[in-house]
Amino acid sequence: MTQLPQAPLHIIDIIRHKRDGLTLSDAEIQHFIRSVVDHSITDSQTSALLMAIFLRGLTPQELAALTTAMRFSGEVFDATPLHTFTIDKHSTGGVGDKTSLLIAPILAAAGLAAPTPAGIPGICVPMISGRSLGHTGGTLDKLETIPGFNTQLSLQQFFDTLKSCGASLIGQTPTLVPADRILYALRDHIGTIESPNLITASIMSKKLAESLNALVLDVKTGSGAFMKVYEDSKHLASLMVQTGTLAGTRTVALLTSMDQPLGRFSGNWVEVWECVDIMKQHRHPMSADLIALTNILSGWMLHLAGHADSPEAGAALANEILLSGKAFQAFLKIVQAQGGDITLFAGEANPATFHKPTATRTLKAETAGYLSSMDCTEVGWAVQRLGAGRAKPGDPVSAHAGIEVHLKLGDKVEPHQPLITLFAEDESLLAEPYEMLRYTLKITPNPPTVQSLIREVITAN
Ligand code: URA
Repeated sequence: MTQLPQAPLHIIDIIRHKRDGLTLSDAEIQHFIRSVVDHSITDSQTSALLMAIFLRGLTPQELAALTTAMRFSGEVFDATPLHTFTIDKHSTGGVGDKTSLLIAPILAAAGLAAPTPAGIPGICVPMISGRSLGHTGGTLDKLETIPGFNTQLSLQQFFDTLKSCGASLIGQTPTLVPADRILYALRDHIGTIESPNLITASIMSKKLAESLNALVLDVKTGSGAFMKVYEDSKHLASLMVQTGTLAGTRTVALLTSMDQPLGRFSGNWVEVWECVDIMKQHRHPMSADLIALTNILSGWMLHLAGHADSPEAGAALANEILLSGKAFQAFLKIVQAQGGDITLFAGEANPATFHKPTATRTLKAETAGYLSSMDCTEVGWAVQRLGAGRAKPGDPVSAHAGIEVHLKLGDKVEPHQPLITLFAEDESLLAEPYEMLRYTLKITPNPPTVQSLIREVITAN
Protein backbone atom coordinates (compact mmCIF):
# COMPACT_ATOMS: atom_id res chain seq x y z
CA MET A 1 0.00 0.00 0.00
CA THR A 2 1.38 3.40 -0.91
CA GLN A 3 1.41 6.03 1.83
CA LEU A 4 -0.31 9.34 1.22
CA PRO A 5 2.27 12.13 1.23
CA GLN A 6 2.27 14.18 4.44
CA ALA A 7 -0.18 17.09 4.00
CA PRO A 8 1.65 20.41 4.04
CA LEU A 9 1.09 22.54 7.14
CA HIS A 10 -0.27 26.06 6.88
CA ILE A 11 -0.09 28.57 9.71
CA ILE A 12 -3.61 29.81 9.01
CA ASP A 13 -4.96 26.27 9.65
CA ILE A 14 -2.98 26.02 12.89
CA ILE A 15 -4.41 29.34 14.12
CA ARG A 16 -7.94 28.25 13.20
CA HIS A 17 -7.52 24.91 14.98
CA LYS A 18 -6.45 26.56 18.24
CA ARG A 19 -9.05 29.32 17.86
CA ASP A 20 -11.76 26.63 17.62
CA GLY A 21 -10.47 24.75 20.67
CA LEU A 22 -8.91 21.78 18.87
CA THR A 23 -5.74 20.08 20.11
CA LEU A 24 -2.66 20.88 18.04
CA SER A 25 -0.43 18.02 16.91
CA ASP A 26 3.30 17.96 17.71
CA ALA A 27 3.97 18.61 14.00
CA GLU A 28 1.76 21.71 14.01
CA ILE A 29 3.51 23.11 17.08
CA GLN A 30 6.96 22.38 15.64
CA HIS A 31 5.95 24.05 12.38
CA PHE A 32 4.78 27.14 14.29
CA ILE A 33 8.04 27.53 16.23
CA ARG A 34 10.18 26.88 13.12
CA SER A 35 8.22 29.56 11.27
CA VAL A 36 8.63 32.03 14.14
CA VAL A 37 12.39 31.61 14.16
CA ASP A 38 12.88 31.73 10.37
CA HIS A 39 10.46 34.70 10.16
CA SER A 40 8.33 33.00 7.52
CA ILE A 41 5.13 34.04 9.33
CA THR A 42 4.03 37.54 10.20
CA ASP A 43 3.96 39.03 13.69
CA SER A 44 0.17 39.27 13.43
CA GLN A 45 -0.10 35.52 12.75
CA THR A 46 2.21 34.76 15.69
CA SER A 47 0.21 37.13 17.90
CA ALA A 48 -3.08 35.55 16.81
CA LEU A 49 -1.88 32.08 17.76
CA LEU A 50 -0.47 33.33 21.07
CA MET A 51 -3.83 34.90 21.90
CA ALA A 52 -5.66 31.71 20.89
CA ILE A 53 -3.35 29.75 23.24
CA PHE A 54 -3.92 32.33 25.98
CA LEU A 55 -7.72 31.95 25.66
CA ARG A 56 -8.02 28.22 24.87
CA GLY A 57 -5.11 26.87 26.94
CA LEU A 58 -2.94 23.85 26.12
CA THR A 59 -3.18 20.16 26.94
CA PRO A 60 -0.16 18.70 28.82
CA GLN A 61 0.97 17.11 25.52
CA GLU A 62 0.70 20.43 23.66
CA LEU A 63 2.58 22.25 26.44
CA ALA A 64 5.35 19.62 26.36
CA ALA A 65 5.57 19.89 22.55
CA LEU A 66 5.67 23.71 22.66
CA THR A 67 8.37 23.72 25.36
CA THR A 68 10.47 21.16 23.48
CA ALA A 69 10.15 22.99 20.15
CA MET A 70 11.22 26.25 21.83
CA ARG A 71 14.06 24.54 23.73
CA PHE A 72 15.56 23.25 20.47
CA SER A 73 14.86 26.43 18.46
CA GLY A 74 18.56 27.36 18.67
CA GLU A 75 21.75 26.14 20.30
CA VAL A 76 21.55 24.15 23.53
CA PHE A 77 24.18 24.17 26.26
CA ASP A 78 25.66 20.79 27.07
CA ALA A 79 27.73 20.22 30.20
CA THR A 80 27.95 16.43 29.69
CA PRO A 81 31.75 16.48 29.06
CA LEU A 82 32.19 17.73 32.65
CA HIS A 83 30.70 14.44 33.98
CA THR A 84 28.94 16.35 36.75
CA PHE A 85 25.40 16.50 38.06
CA THR A 86 24.01 19.60 36.34
CA ILE A 87 21.46 21.52 38.40
CA ASP A 88 19.99 25.01 38.49
CA LYS A 89 17.51 27.10 40.46
CA HIS A 90 15.01 29.47 38.89
CA SER A 91 12.83 32.06 40.58
CA THR A 92 9.68 33.46 38.97
CA GLY A 93 10.82 36.90 40.18
CA GLY A 94 10.53 38.96 43.32
CA VAL A 95 11.68 42.04 45.22
CA GLY A 96 15.07 41.80 46.96
CA ASP A 97 15.34 38.20 45.75
CA LYS A 98 19.09 37.65 45.55
CA THR A 99 19.30 33.96 46.43
CA SER A 100 21.09 33.13 43.13
CA LEU A 101 24.14 35.15 44.27
CA LEU A 102 24.43 32.89 47.31
CA ILE A 103 23.19 29.57 45.92
CA ALA A 104 25.66 29.44 42.99
CA PRO A 105 28.74 29.70 45.28
CA ILE A 106 27.25 27.37 47.92
CA LEU A 107 26.67 24.64 45.32
CA ALA A 108 30.03 25.33 43.67
CA ALA A 109 31.75 24.95 47.05
CA ALA A 110 29.86 21.71 47.69
CA GLY A 111 30.73 20.31 44.29
CA LEU A 112 34.36 21.25 43.90
CA ALA A 113 35.58 18.51 46.21
CA ALA A 114 33.64 15.92 44.22
CA PRO A 115 33.36 13.25 43.02
CA THR A 116 33.00 12.08 46.60
CA PRO A 117 34.71 8.90 47.78
CA ALA A 118 31.29 7.25 47.45
CA GLY A 119 31.42 8.01 43.74
CA ILE A 120 28.76 10.73 43.78
CA PRO A 121 29.52 13.04 40.86
CA GLY A 122 30.43 16.66 41.38
CA ILE A 123 27.93 19.44 40.85
CA CYS A 124 27.83 22.06 38.15
CA VAL A 125 25.45 25.04 38.21
CA PRO A 126 25.01 26.70 34.81
CA MET A 127 22.88 29.71 35.77
CA ILE A 128 21.46 31.56 32.79
CA SER A 129 19.75 34.53 34.41
CA GLY A 130 17.67 37.54 33.45
CA ARG A 131 17.52 41.30 33.85
CA SER A 132 15.02 43.27 35.85
CA LEU A 133 11.49 42.62 34.58
CA GLY A 134 8.53 44.81 35.55
CA HIS A 135 8.72 45.52 39.29
CA THR A 136 11.26 42.73 39.95
CA GLY A 137 15.05 42.90 40.06
CA GLY A 138 17.40 40.96 37.77
CA THR A 139 20.45 38.90 38.74
CA LEU A 140 22.47 40.22 35.75
CA ASP A 141 21.88 43.88 36.69
CA LYS A 142 23.06 43.15 40.23
CA LEU A 143 26.20 41.27 39.15
CA GLU A 144 27.13 43.92 36.60
CA THR A 145 27.55 46.47 39.40
CA ILE A 146 30.77 44.60 40.22
CA PRO A 147 33.28 46.48 38.03
CA GLY A 148 34.42 44.30 35.13
CA PHE A 149 31.97 41.44 35.76
CA ASN A 150 31.10 39.97 32.36
CA THR A 151 27.66 38.34 32.10
CA GLN A 152 27.86 38.03 28.30
CA LEU A 153 30.18 35.02 28.02
CA SER A 154 30.08 32.80 24.94
CA LEU A 155 28.87 29.24 25.55
CA GLN A 156 32.51 28.05 25.34
CA GLN A 157 33.62 30.62 27.99
CA PHE A 158 30.60 29.59 30.09
CA PHE A 159 31.70 25.96 29.84
CA ASP A 160 35.29 26.84 30.79
CA THR A 161 34.13 28.84 33.84
CA LEU A 162 31.92 25.96 34.96
CA LYS A 163 34.86 23.60 34.60
CA SER A 164 37.14 25.74 36.75
CA CYS A 165 34.60 27.13 39.26
CA GLY A 166 31.64 24.71 39.39
CA ALA A 167 29.16 27.57 38.76
CA SER A 168 28.81 30.48 36.40
CA LEU A 169 26.16 33.18 35.98
CA ILE A 170 25.48 34.62 32.53
CA GLY A 171 22.73 36.18 30.43
CA GLN A 172 20.85 34.47 27.64
CA THR A 173 23.01 34.30 24.51
CA PRO A 174 21.59 35.34 21.10
CA THR A 175 21.64 31.73 19.92
CA LEU A 176 19.97 30.08 22.94
CA VAL A 177 16.18 29.64 22.65
CA PRO A 178 15.69 32.38 20.01
CA ALA A 179 11.97 31.49 19.81
CA ASP A 180 11.42 32.78 23.35
CA ARG A 181 13.03 36.11 22.60
CA ILE A 182 10.61 36.69 19.71
CA LEU A 183 7.52 35.33 21.45
CA TYR A 184 8.24 37.14 24.71
CA ALA A 185 8.59 40.53 22.98
CA LEU A 186 5.26 40.03 21.22
CA ARG A 187 3.52 38.77 24.37
CA ASP A 188 4.63 41.89 26.18
CA HIS A 189 2.74 43.99 23.59
CA ILE A 190 -0.45 41.96 23.19
CA GLY A 191 -1.40 41.22 26.79
CA THR A 192 -0.48 37.54 26.89
CA ILE A 193 2.29 37.54 29.52
CA GLU A 194 -0.02 36.29 32.28
CA SER A 195 -0.69 32.87 30.75
CA PRO A 196 0.45 29.94 32.91
CA ASN A 197 1.04 27.84 29.77
CA LEU A 198 3.07 30.51 27.99
CA ILE A 199 5.06 31.37 31.16
CA THR A 200 5.83 27.67 31.62
CA ALA A 201 6.98 27.20 28.02
CA SER A 202 9.07 30.39 28.20
CA ILE A 203 10.84 29.60 31.48
CA MET A 204 11.15 25.85 31.04
CA SER A 205 12.44 26.01 27.43
CA LYS A 206 15.31 28.23 28.63
CA LYS A 207 16.07 26.09 31.68
CA LEU A 208 15.87 22.81 29.74
CA ALA A 209 18.25 24.28 27.12
CA GLU A 210 20.86 24.10 29.91
CA SER A 211 20.52 20.26 29.66
CA LEU A 212 19.91 19.93 33.39
CA ASN A 213 19.74 16.76 35.46
CA ALA A 214 17.58 18.59 38.00
CA LEU A 215 15.90 21.94 38.56
CA VAL A 216 14.58 23.63 41.70
CA LEU A 217 11.93 26.28 41.07
CA ASP A 218 11.16 29.10 43.48
CA VAL A 219 7.60 30.05 42.52
CA LYS A 220 6.68 33.27 44.27
CA THR A 221 3.19 33.93 45.56
CA GLY A 222 1.69 36.99 47.26
CA SER A 223 1.49 40.72 46.66
CA GLY A 224 5.01 41.00 45.17
CA ALA A 225 4.73 38.00 42.82
CA PHE A 226 3.62 38.00 39.17
CA MET A 227 0.99 35.43 40.24
CA LYS A 228 -0.56 37.01 43.35
CA VAL A 229 -3.31 34.48 44.02
CA TYR A 230 -2.13 31.34 45.79
CA GLU A 231 -4.08 28.87 43.61
CA ASP A 232 -2.72 30.53 40.42
CA SER A 233 0.87 30.25 41.69
CA LYS A 234 0.26 26.63 42.59
CA HIS A 235 -1.17 25.90 39.14
CA LEU A 236 1.91 27.50 37.52
CA ALA A 237 4.23 25.50 39.79
CA SER A 238 2.45 22.26 38.90
CA LEU A 239 2.66 22.97 35.16
CA MET A 240 6.39 23.70 35.42
CA VAL A 241 7.08 20.56 37.48
CA GLN A 242 5.05 18.43 35.06
CA THR A 243 6.83 19.92 32.02
CA GLY A 244 10.33 19.49 33.49
CA THR A 245 9.58 15.94 34.58
CA LEU A 246 8.20 14.97 31.14
CA ALA A 247 11.43 16.30 29.61
CA GLY A 248 13.51 14.02 31.87
CA THR A 249 14.73 16.69 34.33
CA ARG A 250 13.94 16.04 38.00
CA THR A 251 11.96 19.14 38.90
CA VAL A 252 10.76 20.40 42.27
CA ALA A 253 8.92 23.67 42.94
CA LEU A 254 8.77 25.53 46.24
CA LEU A 255 5.91 27.98 46.61
CA THR A 256 7.36 30.85 48.62
CA SER A 257 5.87 34.03 50.08
CA MET A 258 6.62 37.32 48.36
CA ASP A 259 4.55 39.64 50.55
CA GLN A 260 7.54 41.80 51.50
CA PRO A 261 11.06 42.36 50.11
CA LEU A 262 13.40 39.45 50.78
CA GLY A 263 16.32 40.34 53.04
CA ARG A 264 17.71 43.73 54.03
CA PHE A 265 18.27 45.52 50.70
CA SER A 266 16.53 45.75 47.32
CA GLY A 267 18.39 47.32 44.41
CA ASN A 268 21.55 46.37 42.55
CA TRP A 269 24.93 46.86 44.30
CA VAL A 270 23.21 46.90 47.70
CA GLU A 271 22.08 43.31 47.05
CA VAL A 272 25.64 42.22 46.18
CA TRP A 273 26.79 43.93 49.40
CA GLU A 274 24.16 42.04 51.44
CA CYS A 275 25.26 38.69 49.98
CA VAL A 276 28.95 39.42 50.56
CA ASP A 277 28.16 40.38 54.17
CA ILE A 278 26.38 37.05 54.67
CA MET A 279 29.24 35.09 53.11
CA LYS A 280 31.69 36.99 55.37
CA GLN A 281 29.58 36.12 58.44
CA HIS A 282 28.18 39.62 59.00
CA ARG A 283 24.62 38.41 59.43
CA HIS A 284 22.28 41.40 59.71
CA PRO A 285 18.94 40.56 61.40
CA MET A 286 17.01 41.82 58.33
CA SER A 287 18.81 39.17 56.22
CA ALA A 288 17.39 36.25 58.24
CA ASP A 289 14.61 35.39 55.73
CA LEU A 290 17.08 35.55 52.83
CA ILE A 291 19.50 33.18 54.59
CA ALA A 292 16.66 30.79 55.46
CA LEU A 293 15.33 30.65 51.89
CA THR A 294 18.84 30.31 50.44
CA ASN A 295 19.58 27.35 52.68
CA ILE A 296 16.25 25.66 51.93
CA LEU A 297 16.62 26.02 48.13
CA SER A 298 20.30 24.97 48.27
CA GLY A 299 19.26 22.06 50.51
CA TRP A 300 16.87 20.75 47.86
CA MET A 301 19.57 21.10 45.21
CA LEU A 302 22.16 19.28 47.32
CA HIS A 303 19.62 16.55 48.05
CA LEU A 304 18.67 16.10 44.37
CA ALA A 305 22.37 16.01 43.45
CA GLY A 306 22.89 13.15 45.91
CA HIS A 307 25.04 15.16 48.37
CA ALA A 308 22.45 15.09 51.20
CA ASP A 309 20.04 12.39 52.38
CA SER A 310 17.14 14.81 52.70
CA PRO A 311 16.36 18.44 51.81
CA GLU A 312 16.70 19.26 55.53
CA ALA A 313 20.17 17.69 55.70
CA GLY A 314 20.98 19.62 52.52
CA ALA A 315 19.89 22.89 54.14
CA ALA A 316 22.13 22.18 57.16
CA LEU A 317 25.04 21.43 54.79
CA ALA A 318 24.37 24.67 52.86
CA ASN A 319 24.46 26.67 56.10
CA GLU A 320 27.71 24.96 57.10
CA ILE A 321 29.24 25.88 53.72
CA LEU A 322 28.11 29.49 54.20
CA LEU A 323 29.49 29.65 57.75
CA SER A 324 32.81 28.01 56.87
CA GLY A 325 33.73 30.76 54.40
CA LYS A 326 33.89 28.19 51.56
CA ALA A 327 30.96 29.82 49.76
CA PHE A 328 32.76 33.16 49.85
CA GLN A 329 35.93 31.60 48.41
CA ALA A 330 33.84 30.05 45.61
CA PHE A 331 32.15 33.44 45.01
CA LEU A 332 35.53 35.20 44.67
CA LYS A 333 36.68 32.55 42.22
CA ILE A 334 33.55 32.92 40.04
CA VAL A 335 33.74 36.74 40.08
CA GLN A 336 37.43 36.66 39.15
CA ALA A 337 36.86 34.09 36.39
CA GLN A 338 34.20 36.37 34.88
CA GLY A 339 36.48 39.42 34.96
CA GLY A 340 35.06 41.07 38.09
CA ASP A 341 37.12 43.24 40.45
CA ILE A 342 37.20 41.44 43.81
CA THR A 343 39.15 44.17 45.61
CA LEU A 344 35.82 45.75 46.64
CA PHE A 345 35.02 42.90 48.98
CA ALA A 346 37.98 40.51 49.31
CA GLY A 347 39.92 40.33 52.60
CA GLU A 348 39.25 43.29 54.88
CA ALA A 349 37.58 45.36 52.10
CA ASN A 350 34.08 46.44 53.07
CA PRO A 351 31.47 46.46 50.28
CA ALA A 352 29.57 49.19 52.17
CA THR A 353 32.24 51.70 51.16
CA PHE A 354 31.33 51.21 47.47
CA HIS A 355 27.70 52.20 48.16
CA LYS A 356 27.64 55.84 47.06
CA PRO A 357 24.09 57.12 46.63
CA THR A 358 24.06 60.88 46.36
CA ALA A 359 20.55 61.16 47.80
CA THR A 360 18.93 59.31 50.69
CA ARG A 361 15.74 59.75 52.69
CA THR A 362 14.26 57.65 55.48
CA LEU A 363 10.57 56.92 55.80
CA LYS A 364 9.57 56.91 59.49
CA ALA A 365 6.47 55.57 61.24
CA GLU A 366 3.76 58.12 61.94
CA THR A 367 1.97 56.00 64.56
CA ALA A 368 2.66 53.15 66.95
CA GLY A 369 1.49 49.60 66.20
CA TYR A 370 2.63 46.71 64.03
CA LEU A 371 3.87 46.68 60.46
CA SER A 372 0.96 44.71 59.08
CA SER A 373 0.91 44.82 55.27
CA MET A 374 2.24 46.34 52.07
CA ASP A 375 1.65 45.93 48.36
CA CYS A 376 5.05 44.42 47.62
CA THR A 377 4.64 45.03 43.87
CA GLU A 378 4.35 48.74 44.69
CA VAL A 379 7.53 48.47 46.80
CA GLY A 380 9.24 46.85 43.79
CA TRP A 381 8.11 49.70 41.51
CA ALA A 382 9.42 52.21 44.06
CA VAL A 383 12.84 50.50 43.89
CA GLN A 384 12.76 50.54 40.08
CA ARG A 385 11.81 54.24 39.98
CA LEU A 386 14.64 55.16 42.34
CA GLY A 387 16.82 54.17 39.38
CA ALA A 388 17.42 50.46 40.00
CA GLY A 389 15.27 49.47 36.99
CA ARG A 390 14.69 50.64 33.43
CA ALA A 391 11.92 52.77 31.94
CA LYS A 392 12.57 51.04 28.58
CA PRO A 393 14.72 48.14 27.33
CA GLY A 394 18.41 49.02 27.01
CA ASP A 395 18.33 51.91 29.53
CA PRO A 396 21.23 51.88 32.03
CA VAL A 397 20.42 51.00 35.64
CA SER A 398 21.82 52.75 38.70
CA ALA A 399 24.28 50.72 40.76
CA HIS A 400 23.48 52.63 43.95
CA ALA A 401 19.70 53.06 43.85
CA GLY A 402 17.58 50.93 46.16
CA ILE A 403 16.05 50.59 49.59
CA GLU A 404 17.01 49.22 52.99
CA VAL A 405 14.19 47.82 55.12
CA HIS A 406 14.45 48.33 58.88
CA LEU A 407 11.44 46.19 59.86
CA LYS A 408 9.65 43.06 58.68
CA LEU A 409 5.93 42.31 58.61
CA GLY A 410 4.65 41.66 62.14
CA ASP A 411 7.35 43.79 63.84
CA LYS A 412 6.31 46.25 66.53
CA VAL A 413 6.65 49.91 65.54
CA GLU A 414 7.13 53.03 67.66
CA PRO A 415 6.28 56.50 66.36
CA HIS A 416 9.18 58.03 64.35
CA GLN A 417 10.90 54.65 64.03
CA PRO A 418 12.69 54.24 60.65
CA LEU A 419 10.79 51.89 58.33
CA ILE A 420 12.66 52.12 55.02
CA THR A 421 15.65 54.13 53.78
CA LEU A 422 15.66 55.11 50.11
CA PHE A 423 18.82 55.55 47.99
CA ALA A 424 19.12 57.29 44.62
CA GLU A 425 21.73 59.04 42.54
CA ASP A 426 19.61 62.15 42.15
CA GLU A 427 17.55 63.97 44.79
CA SER A 428 14.70 64.45 42.30
CA LEU A 429 14.20 60.66 42.08
CA LEU A 430 13.29 60.30 45.76
CA ALA A 431 9.90 62.03 45.97
CA GLU A 432 7.63 59.66 44.03
CA PRO A 433 9.03 56.38 45.51
CA TYR A 434 8.89 57.94 49.01
CA GLU A 435 5.17 58.66 48.61
CA MET A 436 4.51 55.23 47.10
CA LEU A 437 6.14 53.58 50.13
CA ARG A 438 4.44 55.91 52.62
CA TYR A 439 1.09 55.06 51.10
CA THR A 440 1.54 51.28 50.87
CA LEU A 441 3.13 50.45 54.26
CA LYS A 442 0.28 49.86 56.71
CA ILE A 443 0.64 50.04 60.49
CA THR A 444 -2.23 48.61 62.57
CA PRO A 445 -2.88 48.42 66.32
CA ASN A 446 -2.91 44.60 66.29
CA PRO A 447 -0.25 42.23 64.97
CA PRO A 448 -1.05 40.71 61.56
CA THR A 449 -0.96 37.05 60.56
CA VAL A 450 2.26 36.64 58.59
CA GLN A 451 2.46 33.85 55.99
CA SER A 452 5.24 31.32 56.39
CA LEU A 453 8.16 31.73 53.98
CA ILE A 454 7.67 28.27 52.43
CA ARG A 455 4.02 27.70 51.63
CA GLU A 456 4.20 24.33 49.87
CA VAL A 457 6.55 22.01 48.01
CA ILE A 458 5.36 20.58 44.67
CA THR A 459 7.06 17.45 43.39
CA ALA A 460 6.26 15.19 40.43
CA ASN A 461 4.44 12.84 42.83
N1 URA B 1 9.92 35.00 32.91
C1 URA B 1 10.14 34.42 31.70
O1 URA B 1 11.28 34.10 31.35
N2 URA B 1 9.10 34.20 30.89
C2 URA B 1 7.83 34.52 31.22
O2 URA B 1 6.92 34.28 30.43
C3 URA B 1 7.60 35.12 32.47
C4 URA B 1 8.67 35.35 33.31
